[in-house]
Order: sequence, then C-alpha cells, then structure tokens
Amino acid sequence: MTDTPRAADRYPIRTATLETVDAFVAPLNLAFADIPDPGDEERRTWEPDRIIAAFDGTEPVATAGALTFRLSVPGGEAAAAGVTLVGVSPSHRRRGILRAMMRHQLDDVRARGESIAILWASEGAIYQRFGYGLATLGGTFEIERGGAVFARPAPVEGTVRLVDLEAAMGIFPALYDRVRVETPGMVGRSETWWRWIMLRDTDHMRGANGMKFLAVYEADGQVEGTAVYRVKPDWDDRGPNGRLVAVEVLATTPRATRDLWTWLFEVDLVRLVRAVRGPVPHPLQLLLADPRRLGFTVGDAIWLRVVDVPAALVARTYGRAGALVLEVRDGFCPWNAGRWRLDIGADGRGSVEPATAAPDVTLDAADLGATYLGTFRFSELARVGRVVENTAGALLRADEMFAAARAPWCSTMF
Ligand SMILES: CC(C)(COP(=O)(O)OP(=O)(O)OC[C@H]1O[C@@H](n2cnc3c(N)ncnc32)[C@H](O)[C@@H]1OP(=O)(O)O)[C@@H](O)C(=O)NCCC(=O)NCCS
Repeated sequence: MTDTPRAADRYPIRTATLETVDAFVAPLNLAFADIPDPGDEERRTWEPDRIIAAFDGTEPVATAGALTFRLSVPGGEAAAAGVTLVGVSPSHRRRGILRAMMRHQLDDVRARGESIAILWASEGAIYQRFGYGLATLGGTFEIERGGAVFARPAPVEGTVRLVDLEAAMGIFPALYDRVRVETPGMVGRSETWWRWIMLRDTDHMRGANGMKFLAVYEADGQVEGTAVYRVKPDWDDRGPNGRLVAVEVLATTPRATRDLWTWLFEVDLVRLVRAVRGPVPHPLQLLLADPRRLGFTVGDAIWLRVVDVPAALVARTYGRAGALVLEVRDGFCPWNAGRWRLDIGADGRGSVEPATAAPDVTLDAADLGATYLGTFRFSELARVGRVVENTAGALLRADEMFAAARAPWCSTMF
C-alpha cells in the first residue's frame, strides 16, 4: 500500500461532528484564498461525519469531505462518494497531507460500501496519482447573440415562463431526474441542494454574473425543459452590452432544446450568451447554422475513481454480450489490483469474478475510471499507450461493451 505514515502520524486525521465541522473546514478558506461568506448556506449540504481534518497540534491545517451520491451509470445507478472541500493550508502544503487524507478517505468510502468516488478538480494534475481518471467532459461557449442563427429555423412550439424559487422547487427536480436517469455522470440532488444551492440567488453567488432566472418550458401542458441562467446588465457606447450565462439548460424533447435556446438568445439587452459545464457534444453544435461561432471549448469535468472494481462493474449495464479479462493495476487501492473476469449476458448485465486466465487488457485504475461511464474508449487509451491489448480483438470488444447509449455529462458542481 502506498501510504505516508509520516504525514498521517505527524498530522493526525480526525472526523468532524456537527459541533466541530466549522473549525474543521477552516483551512479551506486559506487554501482557496476565499473570504468566508456569512450567508453561505452550502454548509447545509455537508455531512459532518464525512468531513475530516488533519491537525497540527490542536490546529486543523487541512480538510477533505465527501457527499453521499447516487451516480447515474449506463443502465443504472451506483453509490458514489462526491469528494469535495479539499484544501491544505498554505503553511502545510507539500508535506504529504493530501495524500494521507486521500488514503483515509478512500478507505472510508470502501468501508461504506460505495464502489465509486468522483470529484471536480481545482487543478487537473492533482488526482490521477490517487487513481482518478477523467470521466466526463464539459463544454463552454460564448456567442454573440447575432451569430446564434439556427440551421433549420422552426416556429416556437411551447411557452417559457419565469418562476420563483418556491414554484421551481415543484418543477425543476422532477425534470432534472428525468434527464439524470438516462445520463451517465449525473448525480441525484437532495431537496437541500436544490433549495440552497441550485435555485437560490444571493449577492455572493451572483459574483460577476448578475441576477439568476429560473425558466420553465412547457408544451402541450407538460413540462419539457428548464433553464437556470444569469443576466448581467451592462452598457457601452454601442448600447446594451448585457451578458447571459446559462448555468443549466435541460430538455426532454427536441423542441424543448430548440425553444429554450431560442428564448435564451432572445433575452433583451444581452449581447453575449455564455454557457459553462455544458454537455459534450453540445446540442447547439448540431442546431446552429455556424457552430464555429460558439467558440466551443472542451475541458475536464468530473474525475472518477473506481473504489471497488467488481461492485462498480456490476452496477452498470453493457452494450453487448461477451467476456473480458481485465488486469487492473492499482497501487493506491491494492484490493482492486489483479485480474477480473467480466461476463456480460444477453441482457447487458455483468458478473465479475477474480480470474487466473491471461488478461485481455491491462490498465491502471485511472484508466478504468476514464472508460467506466463511456466517455473514453479503451482503444483511445491504448493509442496513447495507457491501455495494453494482450489478446487480438480485445480492445474492440471492450469498446463495444463499455459504450454508453448517451454521452456522459455531469452538470452538478460540488
Ligand atoms: C492541492 C492541495 C490540496 C495539495 O495538498 P498537499 O498536502 O500539498 O499535497 P501532498 O503534499 O499530499 O502531495 C501529494 C502529491 O500530489 C502532488 N501535488 C499536490 N498538489 C499538486 C498540484 N496542485 N498540482 C500538481 N501536483 C500536486 C505533490 O507534488 C505530491 O506528489 P508526489 O506524490 O509525487 O510526491 C493543496 O495544495 C491545496 O490546498 N491547494 C489549494 C486548494 C485546492 O486546489 N484544493 C483542491 C480542491 S479540488
């Protein structure tokens, strides 16, 4: 086991309680140079018994937390830890404290029976060493309103109305869940999450992006889409120079997708429309006459760590029947290391057993994280030398097995 007894011994790790949690997370503000916001209600979503701190004497100098999630995986859901609140005080950085906290946390995730851990990384270089692989992508664009011309203009079919937080609470979660169940990478959101993070608006949350709007799209009397967006008004010598930021646009029908984006492109006094953490590929790449005008850029979104190989592999379904022997290398979670035989039946469900047969494919835990939801294919990882094919045809078989019906996407920043 790759452990760092020195850091763990020198800076003992303890678990928070409801009473101590504020002190435990204090190093986070120092790590992110973030001034605490007295109105911050994000703490309502915290789970104190999943928050740890490393102590130098009596002082907490580093912290890490996790949220209990249901993660959509192809064909189902898996219990997952959503790693968050990670920070080490600048006075104690690069002494192995993060590594010690990761060790502690992944042991705890395993003990809780969660087969997967996911996270958003502040810096992409941090977590691969702990077995996290890049598991979903996120798309960002910024388009001048005038450039947002649809390739196949169509009459608007439904209506959009703006709602307040209370009304949104009765609409947005249900619509989101319809999208979530069929989109690998999405996570279940608690009522607290909806009320205090997703739908609420405060000065602090606004930052540079202005007021939050909650829009509901209906057609034939049914809710088919929702949009959360912000508008920052501005003026210059050429007139209105407002900026709209689409935070989350969800649609269950093609017309909802098209009509909601039409709505967003027609908000008055706005010159630029920006979207962050959108799906990849993005529906507007197919809907616009000139998608290049989006200036679409793709970045890393969530990173995924398979904590329990057999449990994670049976939690999802597969694109075709067949068998595959995987040799997994895993220095940080050695219980995963070794050969696993995955058998997929005609119903797409898998069973997993430890194997002695020669492996078809050899890969690291982080590579399994990158392929697990279906974002990257085994053959893509092989082409850059990360996955090794030991038996001819195994990569193609693995690609077909692990393919997801829908591109993975996580729109929840945690
Ligand atoms: C990122 C952070 C948590 C690292 O903590 P730390 O205690 O200094 O990390 P460790 O000393 O345990 O380092 C473990 C390994 O990760 C590497 N590492 C740590 N931070 C890194 C970074 N930002 N980029 C690249 N590598 C990093 C270390 O070099 C070390 O590598 P090694 O195992 O090959 O020796 C800390 O610098 C921090 O709080 N940064 C600001 C807030 C932040 O970004 N938090 C993460 C939120 S997702």
